[in-house]
Amino acid sequence: MVHEYEAIIVGAGGAGLYAALEASKVGKTAVISKLYPLRSHTGAAQGGIGAALGNLEEDRPEWHAFDTIKGGDYLVDQNAAKILVEEAVKAVYDLENRGLPFSRTAEGKIDQRRFGGHTRNFGEAPVKRACYAADRTGHMILQTLYQQCIKNNVLFFDEYFVLDVILDQKKCSGIIALELKTGEVHIFKSKCVMFATGGFGRIFKTTSNAYANTGDGPALLFRKGVPLMDMEFYQFHPTGIAGMGILITEGVRGEGGILKNRKGEPFMKEYAPGLLDLAPRDLISRAILQEIRKGNGMRGDKKIDDYVMLDASHLGKEVIYSKLPDIAEFCRTYLGIDPAEKPIPVQPTAHYAMGGIPTDLSGRVLSDAAGGIYDGLYAAGECACVSVHGANRLGTNSLVDLIVFGKRAGTAIADYIKHADFGKISESDREPSRQRLSVFFDGKKGLHGGKIREEMREVMMDKVGIYRNDADISKAIETIGDLKERYNEVRVEDKNKKFNTDLQDILELSNLLDVAQVTALSALQRTETRGAHSREDYKERNDGEWLKHTMVSRDGDKLKIEFKSVDISLFKPKPRIY
Ligand code: FUM
Repeated sequence: MVHEYEAIIVGAGGAGLYAALEASKVGKTAVISKLYPLRSHTGAAQGGIGAALGNLEEDRPEWHAFDTIKGGDYLVDQNAAKILVEEAVKAVYDLENRGLPFSRTAEGKIDQRRFGGHTRNFGEAPVKRACYAADRTGHMILQTLYQQCIKNNVLFFDEYFVLDVILDQKKCSGIIALELKTGEVHIFKSKCVMFATGGFGRIFKTTSNAYANTGDGPALLFRKGVPLMDMEFYQFHPTGIAGMGILITEGVRGEGGILKNRKGEPFMKEYAPGLLDLAPRDLISRAILQEIRKGNGMRGDKKIDDYVMLDASHLGKEVIYSKLPDIAEFCRTYLGIDPAEKPIPVQPTAHYAMGGIPTDLSGRVLSDAAGGIYDGLYAAGECACVSVHGANRLGTNSLVDLIVFGKRAGTAIADYIKHADFGKISESDREPSRQRLSVFFDGKKGLHGGKIREEMREVMMDKVGIYRNDADISKAIETIGDLKERYNEVRVEDKNKKFNTDLQDILELSNLLDVAQVTALSALQRTETRGAHSREDYKERNDGEWLKHTMVSRDGDKLKIEFKSVDISLFKPKPRIY
């Protein structure tokens, strides 16, 4: 089938839905998602959305900007951070007006809690900045925006998997997508396309990310020659359930939870004497690994590596059950414990990609380091890099990014479709996708993708994880190269067309391998330690050489690396002491 919409949004998380809301005010807008929209990963964001409302303590957007820039180890584009923090305040009230059920103070204001790296007065002490709906903030954002989209007649194509994007002479004119229910390949003709496909934590063995987070947008655009920016910066959240990676929100520490080693010592005083358990995530994840390396971790077993404990038992049942109900439920379900009575076993878990598809402040995709743009191609949310997170994102800033830059991209799309024409797209544009699919069904006895996926996740975790060095990253690059070769031999075992999850796994695997490769290559390139990119062989931040973004793109069979300058118009880079 051939469909025609003025705006196509790929991905139905917070950024995609907000953009769809804005675009639909002007033109016919459709959202294409491989999931049912309310299953998008935005729903897994637990602890809060950061905005300097100052409802409980004095707070200011400029303090939020400072924290974001310092937290990102000065690789943040500061003009983008300024927009993020200023528009965050309006964004939260806007969500409230659209019906989001925030938790409330006794006077009925939006309640706020502490989160890592968020401080008052340029680093003096933690501040209550995270606006929250218990520990279901992302879930509530998703519900609120989806209802608004339905009200605004946005059309949803649920369970459609994007296969290709039509980019001719840097003009985007639509996408090709697989309808999972039937196996039919559809053409979506459009004046413009926005990617909001989320992250790619599934390249790592232990992750807080859903199975769906396979880097579909970045990988697809990368194959079309679009550069990917700052891919070496991947964040590990300090507190995933040990051995499982399931997220235990930073909100637990925001409410007063404390990390302890096997001796029962609160060890963060050694690593971040100022902010303790509310230091940024890169620092706490490394502190946990240091404790484990010193032999101070709880002993794991064959299945679970050593871990530490997150103690919230002193907070009491009332606080935990009312402010952290999902966490209490996860602990009961997965660990058989009540966090109001016992500490939670935790380990760092792969959580968030700071890098992705480079964009300008209106979500327009950049074609090069000099600021060239594609016509009619947009991106926002975790798959994009604007860049407001730099080398390490602060907790709560992902939700702000989705709302602020999802909305900005939607507004830009609304303007664009008023004057833009449809590009060229024809029946023949569907053929490369059909041929690609037919190879998996050619009847040859091939390999199964599952083994390749597991090897990729192991090697990325071991060699391109929290600590990295030249030898390890090089080994990972070699392994990923071999896995890509083996991928060519992969064939489906399930030959059915309808809801063929075997086929979907294979398509996602190809995306994962591409983003894993770019992540490792970018990590090898950056010979310094900055934020979440911690090189054991280059232990210091090196502003002289490396205060710049990396952009990796495909140039025929080769990879091209370019560098883009960082906007430092607000705060000069300083040593990052907490
Ligand atoms: O810890 C959390 O609730 C996660 C939030 C985030 O990644 O921003």
